[in-house]
Amino acid sequence: MDPSAVERSLHRYFFILYRLAEMGAYNRTIKASTEFLAERLGVSQQTASRYLIDLERIGWIKRTTTVQGTLVRLSEEGKTQLKRVHSGLSMILEAQYPPSLTIEGVVFSGLGEGAYYVTREAYRRQFIEKLGFDPYPGTLNLKLTSDYDVKAVAELDAYPAIEISGFRNADRTYGPVRCFRALINNREKGAVVMALRSHYNRSVLEVIAPVYLRGKLKLKDGNRVKVTVFVEVEKPESEQG
Ligand code: CDP
Repeated sequence: MDPSAVERSLHRYFFILYRLAEMGAYNRTIKASTEFLAERLGVSQQTASRYLIDLERIGWIKRTTTVQGTLVRLSEEGKTQLKRVHSGLSMILEAQYPPSLTIEGVVFSGLGEGAYYVTREAYRRQFIEKLGFDPYPGTLNLKLTSDYDVKAVAELDAYPAIEISGFRNADRTYGPVRCFRALINNREKGAVVMALRSHYNRSVLEVIAPVYLRGKLKLKDGNRVKVTVFVEVEKPESEQG
């Protein structure tokens, strides 16, 4: 079958697949008379029967024609199609809007660049204005050690952040920075800053705070730190209250 034709009709095929599932074809073989199907789909019997042929061709159903009529059952691929939409819908409809994500990492020393960036006046002014604190000159670097933590950080991309604008001076440009308010080891307020130094890949979390965290929390290289990251998501009006 011409792939572009399949592509064009995908929304229709999907709808028919859904109707067939409603009729019971998800878990068992059903007898789908084209007459009944045509009525359910609001199309002619001829069209209904062509849809079944197409659906079989693209591998979404298994079809057998018998003297009693057409027997239909969703194939594994057909079920996968429905499951995909199901999980997409659950995420959209049942999103929990977690108020925070917990990420853990291990303290390590960098090359002292954090201090340089944090103290650029154009950044610093915005940290004060948008985060409400004047950051200690530096960033606490945390190495993420588990897949869970790496994924949690990646997930932050999807959340609206406190945006610090980039700027340029005579020498170079400084990129924008995304921040999230955070609580470090359940105690110290601060913020996670993303892409202050882009050479750190996604396995590093950088934290700023109004205080010297190593001093306040008695941290040394190799210590494990817990960061509660507050993700500020605007809830739909219907869920506000
Ligand atoms: O990049 P590097 O870790 O070498 O240092 P930095 O970002 O210039 O920060 C200077 C030092 O202060 C580092 O040891 C950081 O871990 C630490 N720091 C801290 O304890 N609390 C902060 N709020 C910021 C930095």
